[in-house]
This record gives sequence, C-alpha cells and structure tokens, in this order.
Amino acid sequence: MDIFAAVLLSSSLLFLFFVFSDAADSITQSQFISDSNGTTLISKDQGFALGFFSPGNSTNRYLGIWYNKIPGKTVVWVANRGTPITDSSGVLMVNSSGSLVLLGQNLTVAWSANSTKKARNSILQLLDSGNLVLREEKEGNYLWESFNYPSDTWLAGMKLGWDLRIGLERRLTAWKSPDDPSPGELSWGFELYNYPEIVMKKGSKKFFRSGPWNGNFFSGMPELQATLLYNFTFVSNKSEVYFMFEMIEKSATTRAVLNQSQEQYQRYMWIEEKKEWSMFLNLPKDKCDSYNLCGPFGNCIMGEAPVCQCVEGFKHKSLETWNPEEWYKGCERNKKLSCQDKIGFDKFSGLKMPDTTSSLLNETMSLNECRVRCLNNCTCIAYSNSNTRNGGSGCAMWFEDLIDIRQMAANKEDANSQDIYIRMPASEQAAKNKRKMKVIVIIVVAIAVVFGVLLIPYCICRRKNLRDKMENNIMLDQNIELQNEDLEVPFFSLATIAIATNNFSSDNKLGEGGFGLVYKGTLIDGHEIAVKRLSRSSIQGLNEFKNEVMLIAKLQHRNLVRLLGYCIEGDETMLIYEYMPNRSLDSFIFDETRAKVLGWSIRFNIICGIARGLLYLHEDSRLRIIHRDLKASNVLLDSKMNPKISDFGMARHFGGDQTEGNTERVVGTYGYMAPEYAIDGLFSVKSDVFSFGILLLEILSGKKNRGFIRPSQSLNLVAHAWNLWKECRPLELLDTCLEDCCIILEFVRCLRISFLCLQQHHEDRPNMSSVVMMLHSESSLPEPKEPACFIGKRLSLSSKNQSPSTNEITVTLLEAQ
Ligand SMILES: *[C@@H]1O[C@H](CO)[C@@H](O)[C@H](O)[C@H]1NC(C)=O
Ligand SMILES: *[C@@H]1O[C@H](CO)[C@@H](O)[C@H](O)[C@H]1NC(C)=O
Ligand SMILES: *[C@@H]1O[C@H](CO)[C@@H](O)[C@H](O)[C@H]1NC(C)=O
Ligand SMILES: *[C@@H]1O[C@H](CO)[C@@H](O)[C@H](O)[C@H]1NC(C)=O
Ligand SMILES: *[C@@H]1O[C@H](CO)[C@@H](O)[C@H](O)[C@H]1NC(C)=O
Ligand SMILES: *[C@@H]1O[C@H](CO)[C@@H](O)[C@H](O)[C@H]1NC(C)=O
Ligand SMILES: *[C@@H]1O[C@H](CO)[C@@H](O)[C@H](O)[C@H]1NC(C)=O
Ligand SMILES: *[C@@H]1O[C@H](CO)[C@@H](O)[C@H](O)[C@H]1NC(C)=O
Ligand SMILES: *[C@@H]1O[C@H](CO)[C@@H](O)[C@H](O)[C@H]1NC(C)=O
Ligand SMILES: *[C@@H]1O[C@H](CO)[C@@H](O)[C@H](O)[C@H]1NC(C)=O
Repeated sequence: MDIFAAVLLSSSLLFLFFVFSDAADSITQSQFISDSNGTTLISKDQGFALGFFSPGNSTNRYLGIWYNKIPGKTVVWVANRGTPITDSSGVLMVNSSGSLVLLGQNLTVAWSANSTKKARNSILQLLDSGNLVLREEKEGNYLWESFNYPSDTWLAGMKLGWDLRIGLERRLTAWKSPDDPSPGELSWGFELYNYPEIVMKKGSKKFFRSGPWNGNFFSGMPELQATLLYNFTFVSNKSEVYFMFEMIEKSATTRAVLNQSQEQYQRYMWIEEKKEWSMFLNLPKDKCDSYNLCGPFGNCIMGEAPVCQCVEGFKHKSLETWNPEEWYKGCERNKKLSCQDKIGFDKFSGLKMPDTTSSLLNETMSLNECRVRCLNNCTCIAYSNSNTRNGGSGCAMWFEDLIDIRQMAANKEDANSQDIYIRMPASEQAAKNKRKMKVIVIIVVAIAVVFGVLLIPYCICRRKNLRDKMENNIMLDQNIELQNEDLEVPFFSLATIAIATNNFSSDNKLGEGGFGLVYKGTLIDGHEIAVKRLSRSSIQGLNEFKNEVMLIAKLQHRNLVRLLGYCIEGDETMLIYEYMPNRSLDSFIFDETRAKVLGWSIRFNIICGIARGLLYLHEDSRLRIIHRDLKASNVLLDSKMNPKISDFGMARHFGGDQTEGNTERVVGTYGYMAPEYAIDGLFSVKSDVFSFGILLLEILSGKKNRGFIRPSQSLNLVAHAWNLWKECRPLELLDTCLEDCCIILEFVRCLRISFLCLQQHHEDRPNMSSVVMMLHSESSLPEPKEPACFIGKRLSLSSKNQSPSTNEITVTLLEAQ
C-alpha cells in the first residue's frame, strides 16, 4: 500500500521534473518512470533511451533500452524479457527498500533487479555507454548494472564472460522472435574449460565454437580482431574470464547481436548516409563452422569436395565419404596406436584448434616442455603453444579425440599461426619420409633420363659440367620439396623447366611482364612455379645477372613474391618464382564479376600488405630497393588473397642511404609514374609512393587510372577523385560492389592517404613507414594538397611538340608498356 502512496505523492513532482528537463538521465528513489506518461530516461550524450516499448507486432509492453538518435527503436536491452505487461500500467522505480522494481497491473512485481547490496539513497542512471546502473547517491559503487545481464546485444564496454568471484555469467541470448524478446534457444558465451573458448549454443547443444584465444585472436574466429574502429580485450585469470570490445573511432556506432532466425552472431554498423544498419560480419560464416561437422580427426576444408577430409595420417571411418550423413563418423588412424608403440609428433599449421573440453593448459611451460609432457603421457593426443605472441609460449594439451578442426582461411597475421602437433606412430612418420624420398628418387631418375636422351648433343659439348649440374638439380629439387628457407638460390636446368612448362607451350603462358614472357610450370614433384623468361634485350652481362639474382633472393617478405631459383643456359635466362594461383590484382579489381570477390576487408588487407611489402623494399631490407614499376598487374594474389609484389629489384637497386638517383632509361608504366620521374627521370622512394597512391585509388574505386573516361569531362581518375573529395562526396568514388559492406571510415582514411601520396612535390609525400602507420592508426591525418593529376596530358604534349632527349625515351618506353 505504501508504494501506492509514494507513487501518488511523487507524481506531481515527477511531472514538473519531466516537463522541465525531458533529457533526464537519472531518477532518484522518489521518482519513477511510467508507461502511461510515456516518460523515458535519456543518457547524457543523447545516445541511448530507456522506456517502454512493444516489439514487432506484439501489443505487450516491455521495459528496454534503445538507440535514442537512430530511428526505428533498435532495442539493445530488455528488462522483463519473459514477463510482459499486457497494458500500459508499467512503472519502473526504486522502491523504499532500495530495490529496482518494475510494477505491472495492480502493482504486482513484473521484474526486479538482482542486487544483493542495498543503499539508503540510490540513484538509477542511464550511462552514455547504454549501461543502466543503480548506484549509491555519491558517485560510486554500482549496486547493479544492466551490462551484467545482457539480452541479445553486445555493446562496447560490455564484458562477455564470467566474474568467477561472484559466479556471475554474462551470456547473450537471442530473442525468441522479433515479436517476443523472451530468451530464445540461441546463446553465446564462454565455456570455462582449462583453455576457455566462446561457444554458441542451441539449447544445450554446441553450435559454433570460437576456438581458444591464442594471444591475438580466437583460433577459429580471426574475424574478431582489432580494427581501426574498435579493439578487443581478452582476460582469463582466477577472478575473471571475459572478452570485451571498445570503440576507438568514437563517432561510429556498432553493435553485435545474436540473431535467432538466422542462427548467427551478427555485427552491425550504423550508416548515417543511408540511414540504415549495415551488417559487416556474421558467424558462423560457412559450412565448416558448423560444430563437429566432420567428426573426430576430420578436417573441414572449404572448397574441397567433400569438405570433410581427414587429418594426414588418418582415414575415413565410413566409406561413403560423399554422404553428409556419414561425416560425423570422422576418421581413424591408418595404423592403430598403443601405449607401447614408438611415437613422434607431426606438425600441422593453419588449423582451428580442436574442441578444448578435455584440454589442459599451463601458461608457463615452453613448447619443448610441452612436448616432453605430452610424449610421456600415453593419453595425450596433441599439444600446441597456447599463446602465439612473441614467438610462442604456454602449453595446451588434448587428451581425447580431436574434434571440430577446420582449415582456416587467410589470417591477417599469418606469421602468428598456431601450430598443433599431433601424436603419430613412428612407423607412420617413417613411411611418410619414405614417400618423400621416393619423390626425390623419381625426380633424379627423370632428370637423368632427360639429360641422357633429350639433350645428348647439348650435353656432349658440356660433358665436364654435367655431373656437377645434375647434383645441383637434385639439390635444388630437394630444396623445394622441403621448403627450405636457405638463402642459396638454386639453379634450375633448362631441361627441368622445359619439362615443367611443357616446352614453353603457349597453353602455359600466363602473360607478358615488363621483362619477358611468363609461363606456368609444374615440377615433377607437383610443385607449381611461374617462370619468367627474360627477353634477351633486357639482360646485362651474365655475372651481373647472377649477382642481381642473389640479391633479389635475399629479399624475403610475405608480401613479396618469392624467387625460387634461376636458370642460365645458352641464350636463355630465366627467373623461377612461386606460382600465384589467383594471378594479379588487376584481374580482380577491374573485372566486374571478379571484383565482387574482393570485399572491403580483403581489399583493406591487400592495401596494407602492399604497403608493408613496399616498406620492406624501401627501408627494412638491407638493400634499399626502389621498385619503379608498381602497378596492379605487378601485385599478385596467393590462394588466400594475400598480396605479393612482383618484379621488384628488376630495376636498379641501391646500397646504403642513397635514396635518389637519376636515370637515362625510364622504366615504369604510364598512369602510375610520379611527375618528377616521368619528366625529369629523377626517381626516389617517393616516386614509388606516388605509384602506391595511384594503386590505392584504383583499389578503392575499381577503376583504372589510365583509360578512365568520364563522358562529360576529360578528367583522369585522380582528377575526378580529387574533385569529389573537394566537394565532400568521397563516397561516390566507392567501387559499386563495395557499397553494401564497406567500412566508411576506413575507406575515407585510405582515400586521404592516397591523396597524400599523390601530392605534386615529392617532399610533401609521406614515406612508406608513415603510410603503414597511417593505415593502422586512428589519429587524424594531415590535409592533402592538390595531387599531380595532369601529368598524363603534359607528357603526351611534350612527346609531340618539343622533344628533349630524356622525354623522348620516356615516352617511347611508356607507350611500349
Ligand atoms: C503519470 O503517471 C501516474 C501513474 O501512472 C499518473 O498518476 C499520472 O496522472 C501521470 N501523469 C501524467 C501527466 O500523465
Ligand atoms: C506483422 O504483421 C504483418 C501482417 O500480419 C506481417 O506481414 C509482418 O511480417 C509482421 N511483422 C513481424 C515483425 O512479425
Ligand atoms: C522492494 O522490492 C523488492 C524486490 O521485489 C521486495 O523484495 C521488497 O519487499 C520491496 N520493498 C518494499 C518496501 O516494497
Ligand atoms: C487486477 O485487478 C482487477 C480488479 O481488482 C482484476 O479484475 C484483475 O484480474 C487484476 N489483474 C491481475 C493481473 O491481477
Ligand atoms: C537473480 O539471482 C538468482 C540467484 O542468485 C538467480 O537464480 C536468478 O536467475 C537471478 N535473476 C536474474 C534476472 O538474473
Ligand atoms: C585478472 O585480470 C584483471 C584484468 O586484467 C585484473 O584486474 C585482475 O587483477 C586479475 N586478477 C587476478 C587474480 O589475477
Ligand atoms: C582500446 O581502446 C580504448 C579506447 O580508445 C582504450 O582506452 C583501451 O586502452 C584500448 N585497449 C587496448 C587493449 O588496446
Ligand atoms: C536477423 O537477421 C535478419 C537477416 O539478416 C535481419 O533481417 C533481422 O533484422 C535480424 N534480426 C536481428 C534481431 O538483428
Ligand atoms: C606449469 O608448469 C610448470 C613448469 O613445468 C610447473 O612448475 C607448474 O606447476 C605448472 N602449473 C600447473 C598449474 O600445472
Ligand atoms: C596423463 O594425463 C591425464 C590428464 O591430465 C592424467 O589424468 C593422467 O594421470 C596422466 N597419466 C600419466 C601416466 O601421467
């Protein structure tokens, strides 16, 4: 009864209160929020609102929190999820004993907050983060907070996981339906195994695992990594286990939500320009993310048919490997393993770590101690570093069948891959080595045959060298077979290459590079290679060439195409590179259908990769290389769409700190050349930076700088982009196939960086280390000056009218490209 009195008493006060400040973010014990009055709490920054609402088509009333400034009430939290109020009688208040209660019809309690602590004068406040807190009057301890009781939405600053000290679990649960916010089947939270991981569950069944945290990301969920927009924090110790994200770009609004109908975790960002939520991440992302699809020791590989393969050393249990209903049976060892057998461990890279239910974790052990521990315990099936940071540390061990493994796609940081070592019988390992030996023997024999039969006339005159050469060949093929990291550049014989490329058949031709034809080849052991057959005119002396090759081979970086070897025989000079199945970047970005494959995150990854590769050439390698011909067709893509710069070092390299030079022969490509290089032949690392700026613009817009034609004006891409930029309409440059999923802020940042690289005066352009930093930083960037965009026109003019010697050469070469 006294509640009622309190209500009546305070109602007039409350009325005044809300009339005079409708933006109140808190109420005290004598105030309340009522549905019939339509009163709400609004956070100080106006970002969130608390009040009553009816979801979807339902007429039931719920108390919830939603985005205040975003139309259409996107609800992020609901109080009385399972206990709706059927009319507008709802009242939220802090009752006289200090509890937060929601009263429904006839003043019955529809919901109350679970606070154990009580305070005399408590205040209910809606914070800017969207957190509703009950706190003591003097700023201070929270008695209760809504972030500890999440609904289906994960907001910035909200910890997902456990407070082990008080046994509190924060887990997301989806709404049953858009009309009903009561807890649905789908939930998402931490499982407290030794080696904890996040698990999405349907009821009590596992549905999707994140895999354990490896120091940088969750092994099966590399998507949840820090970006320019937000960063992540993972904590796991005796008192807490949680995962949290925080906004770096405070102006962006993003939320993650568990979606019952799609059975997905989805991350959305609010796009103000379009007035809509745009989804840019969802998990599970593909078939292979389905929990335990392939059974024990099965390895799920997207793109294989069937997707369920066995880990090497294992075979399918079921013969019907094509039948999805049989996949769950998984795989068994080729040879049974008992505790008496001699064993070893096979290393596997790029796998999602298996289910950690039965795992053990020791964060202080080294990989070696881990191996010994696992070796000496017959029930230990596999081990790995638990943390891949700083070269790896910690020990995780598995004691039961390994389940829910998959082959991961490209990670941003493939250098940090977490390897797992799986117990194998020694006999199995021996067999594998034997197979390797066999391959080598076959190669040796094949080469011997080729030398013996096909090249008799050739060999006779070089008999003295033959033995040395064959030995070289064998060495070389072993090198490739074993993926040796040795810096010695192997020599390939002409015969090997002729066989590999089907005698340079035109079917094997991949294209024409700046310095000759490129062929695809397959070595006898199955390795694919790309052979660049240098045109005679482009070769200097033999010794000079060899030196050059040795130098190029020393440049090793994951964003540079790797040189595998070379060949000089007779008139032929060739370079052998690793083969890139996805060919070059230009075949994607300028092709309407293939461009769709390159979503924003892939493009951004490509941009960062190119920048890192170039930085390495400019500053980090011992040699200081200026590429001089950076363009989309010189950026190759590996099977995971990682960019690799090719044709570097083909132009002259420099030692020491010489960063500028002058040249008589201008190499490079029309449309990518810096003005000072094209006109004066003056080149520096800054001319590469200019080319990078053009390339960046092309990746963002999907349009070629050269051949970019707008019907109305005769502007090139740079000028067109600059005009849009000046008119504050940068988004119109966005490649059409990026429109749906692009992260606007990253896009605009990249565009700005591009303009900084394109500035007329090379002193103004940033160097590559600044570019890399700018790509990854959140701080504001300088304002670019007008780019050098009319270079194309000036060049063609000078070629026709006056013809100073350098320009003539320039233009001839340019046109030839
Ligand atoms: C506000 O709500 C209370 C309780 O539901 C009611 O008594 C009062 O008349 C309402 N005031 C207004 C202005 O609607
Ligand atoms: C609401 O009802 C209409 C008409 O029955 C239906 O088309 C619509 O899908 C419903 N919306 C939701 C969210 O259930
Ligand atoms: C306040 O609400 C709590 C929780 O519903 C209840 O246990 C308590 O009795 C209420 N106090 C008063 C004075 O009504
Ligand atoms: C509320 O009180 C009215 C009248 O006393 C009664 O008819 C109704 O059933 C009550 N409703 C609830 C939900 O208790
Ligand atoms: C409140 O706490 C009790 C016991 O600690 C728990 O069983 C219950 O689920 C909690 N209620 C809510 C809404 O969290
Ligand atoms: C657990 O980690 C949190 C966050 O880093 C820290 O504040 C807390 O002191 C740690 N607790 C223990 C027992 O190490
Ligand atoms: C994440 O970003 C927030 C906001 O910029 C910052 O306060 C916090 O220290 C960052 N956390 C980590 C782990 O970098
Ligand atoms: C669930 O996903 C569908 C399709 O993407 C979307 O229309 C719907 O709004 C989502 N629901 C929630 C709660 O986000
Ligand atoms: C972890 O390993 C170290 C070194 O082997 C050992 O001293 C320590 O007791 C182990 N910790 C646990 C929790 O097993
Ligand atoms: C092997 O490890 C398991 C799991 O930790 C343990 O239960 C068992 O006692 C160990 N066996 C031996 C021989 O150490």
